[in-house]
Amino acid sequence: MTTRDVIEEVKQKLDIITIVQDYLPALKHSGRNFFAPCPFHNEKTPSFSVSQEIQRYKCFGCGESGDVITFVQNMENVEFPKALELCAKKAGIPLERLSSYSQKDSKLFEKKKAILGANQLAAEFFHYIFLKHERGEEGRIYARKRKFRKQEVKKFLLGYAPNDFQSLKAFLSKKGYSEADLVSWSLLTQKNSRTYDKFRNRLMFPIHNHIGDIVGFSGRVISADDIPKYLNSSETLVYKKSAILYGLFQARDSIRKNKFVIIVEGNVDVPMAHKVGIENIVAPMGTALTKEQLQLLKRYTDTIYFAFDNDTAGQKALIRSHELAQDLGFTTKSIDVAPYGDVDELISGGDQLLQERIDDAVSVVRFIMRSLAKELDLESAEGKSELGHRIAPILAHVNDEIAKNHYIQEVADMLDVKISVIQKLLVESKSQKTTVIDSGAEKVNKPIFQERKNTKERYLLSFLLQYPEFRSETIDWDIFSDQHALDIYKKLTKGEKSISKNIEGLKDGEKDLATELLMQQLGSFESDVEAKHFFKEHIAELTEIYYKRRLGELKKQLKHQEQKGEETAELLSEISAITNKLKTHK
Ligand code: GTP
Ligand code: MN
Repeated sequence: MTTRDVIEEVKQKLDIITIVQDYLPALKHSGRNFFAPCPFHNEKTPSFSVSQEIQRYKCFGCGESGDVITFVQNMENVEFPKALELCAKKAGIPLERLSSYSQKDSKLFEKKKAILGANQLAAEFFHYIFLKHERGEEGRIYARKRKFRKQEVKKFLLGYAPNDFQSLKAFLSKKGYSEADLVSWSLLTQKNSRTYDKFRNRLMFPIHNHIGDIVGFSGRVISADDIPKYLNSSETLVYKKSAILYGLFQARDSIRKNKFVIIVEGNVDVPMAHKVGIENIVAPMGTALTKEQLQLLKRYTDTIYFAFDNDTAGQKALIRSHELAQDLGFTTKSIDVAPYGDVDELISGGDQLLQERIDDAVSVVRFIMRSLAKELDLESAEGKSELGHRIAPILAHVNDEIAKNHYIQEVADMLDVKISVIQKLLVESKSQKTTVIDSGAEKVNKPIFQERKNTKERYLLSFLLQYPEFRSETIDWDIFSDQHALDIYKKLTKGEKSISKNIEGLKDGEKDLATELLMQQLGSFESDVEAKHFFKEHIAELTEIYYKRRLGELKKQLKHQEQKGEETAELLSEISAITNKLKTHK
């Protein structure tokens, strides 16, 4: 099978509508196409459209367009071969059929696959030791103490790295991996010329990326004397810590279903929450939350509940994360874990506690306001001033204007000052440097393109494509100035073949405009009469524009010929004919 065959077969077996709907449950039928808010940029009104007829999508907000495979590629943030593989799986095409294809892949892709393969084997090795092997006893004792449950140990493939320098090395060497590779993939450590297991006597958390590959490990100490508390894999080709969230793979379905995600600080909190039935939970593994991680979450939800540790560091992280999340258009709430230290401790206080705290979650602004009010003496001038100054930068980042004004009012009441005083604090805090840190994310939102070329002409072509009954009307194609669009229209409507067949024959560079024409959202028409009326009006308008344009050209030509002393009679008569037409036209 050639690559093209595989791609064709995958596309034939899948319906883009079903696949997109899996990711975007909000996708709804409207006219000839389906619409939803765009997953690739931040918007409230849906301008992302999907066509069943041509099996393509197009966002009229950010311009993103493509077919079912590129959709999966963008949603999953993977490379094309991986997207194809995922689609093949969805289409029920056996993966072996793709192997001839992946052989031709870039070296890089092959290398990534090798790392993932070794990681997978290492995870299974640690997991096996943890569950079954006598060398795993220490790990099992610790797990019992921390109240891990078998289900979560399996779901997260938790493991134990034995207190031994050579066991993983021996296991993976037998599988054919070279020591040099294993060192550079952060599974072995090298000192002078000796190599040995990097993780020893640790509880092992395999780190899955959002599509389920194991990209690295986080190992927690078991013996209180060991340092560091958590030892993580170094970054590799497949592991970039600022772009990964622990638990996301196991949380995805639940995030979509519940329409929010809980972000915690600790790895341990994640499987513990699953234990009590709460699965929409992720952890950024000790690093400050990044823009990249938030953009990853944005594909699944617009709402974040933070459940950070009940300490000063936790509160600082909360404020910073709230600001960043607000700037990216999320709604943010906070879950109170007090008097417990973190989510894991909260759960050990009672199985139902986490759910109760989720139900009681309040907006981050209110949460901080409450904790400041507890911490400060609001009877004193100093206390009031401090609350005002500390809450202002947080308020300044609230993205919903109505909510923001509501809080301003509330703070003003609380401090017994005029609203303008608080507003002034907000302005001052905005001019100060914000705490937001940009990780240098690769995938920033593209600028929205508002100015589209030749809108009116393209609109008419869209109309003709979407209302085929009008295609038999006689149209004077001269009125079109946009030859490129017209050319594509003609290619699409050519011959006996259907539009969806014709689009396959277009060059890659033409497909985008074709998609735009086919999927541009037209207002809906109440009746055939109304559609006809629209058509006539639109033609009349374009004709008038054409006459004016032509007149301008002719007049220029006239001037030119007069200067050269050439015959102008023919030109003059055309000019007067068009001038007359323009008059009667109106
Ligand atoms: P427990 O104390 O076992 O409940 O662990 P925890 O997951 O609650 O950890 P903690 O609150 O101490 O830290 C939060 C997260 O920060 C951890 O889950 C780790 O991902 C990360 N972290 C903590 N300590 C270290 C460390 O020494 N090195 C690194 N790289 N990460 C750490
Ligand atoms: Mn903890």
